[in-house]
Amino acid sequence: MTAIVQLTEVTRSYGSPPVTALAGVTLTIDTGEFVAIEGASGSGKSTLLNIMGTLDRPSSGSVAIAGVPTTELTDRALSGLRSRVIGFVFQQFHLREGATARDNVADGLLYTGAPRAERRERADAALRRVGLAHRIDHRPHQLSGGERQRVAIARAVIDDPPLLLADEPTGNLDSRSSESIVDLLHELHAGGTSVVVITHDAQLAAQLPRQIRISDGTLVSDSHNRVAA
Ligand SMILES: Nc1ncnc2c1ncn2[C@@H]1O[C@H](COP(=O)(O)OP(=O)(O)OP(=O)(O)O)[C@@H](O)[C@H]1O
Ligand SMILES: [Mg+2]
Repeated sequence: MTAIVQLTEVTRSYGSPPVTALAGVTLTIDTGEFVAIEGASGSGKSTLLNIMGTLDRPSSGSVAIAGVPTTELTDRALSGLRSRVIGFVFQQFHLREGATARDNVADGLLYTGAPRAERRERADAALRRVGLAHRIDHRPHQLSGGERQRVAIARAVIDDPPLLLADEPTGNLDSRSSESIVDLLHELHAGGTSVVVITHDAQLAAQLPRQIRISDGTLVSDSHNRVAA
């Protein structure tokens, strides 16, 4: 089976004097996996996810996505790969404030060059899929945190990317909203999407088939055997 993500000896440091966010991470995620990334604040989780998502490049080491080595790719080629393969849900949603849920989700198809009417139609379908048929014309400030997170997920998966990366998708939600987001991720995974999710929530992580723990930029555990029956 082809790995959907292959990181080899990846490091990332920022600024000078350098802060080491990732200190040499080697990790394979196979197609079809559902993986939790856990770790304390500042341990390097978002940095790791951004590198898996090709939003950031490593300081050293290499990254292959769906079998494609990314080191030599130009930014343009990299963004082409990203738009075909990866859906990304950001820690802070990153929705356009002035735009409706429909238009925010339709943004997920901009790279396809599809006409606006088609993008909107597909956005409506994606919003129905995440249970937001009744909020299509609402703007982000008119939505609850859980609803905004659903809009961000709908935007990420509108073109059925094989890989979904989500940075703390339940971070700011009450337990009911966060359960429904987790159910949605399970549905996407059952439909064939490989999913990697950062979480502080040990209960959520324990439900998933694989948990990776990071501390000070290093993988400290990688376990396949804590799945609840
Ligand atoms: N752009 C940046 N410039 C400088 N340092 C950074 C930058 N981004 C992250 N860092 C540092 O790298 C380390 C890892 O940050 P990262 O955002 O990956 O942590 P995290 O595990 O996602 O934390 P949280 O749970 O709080 O979101 C932190 O010490 C952080 O201060
Ligand atoms: Mg983070």
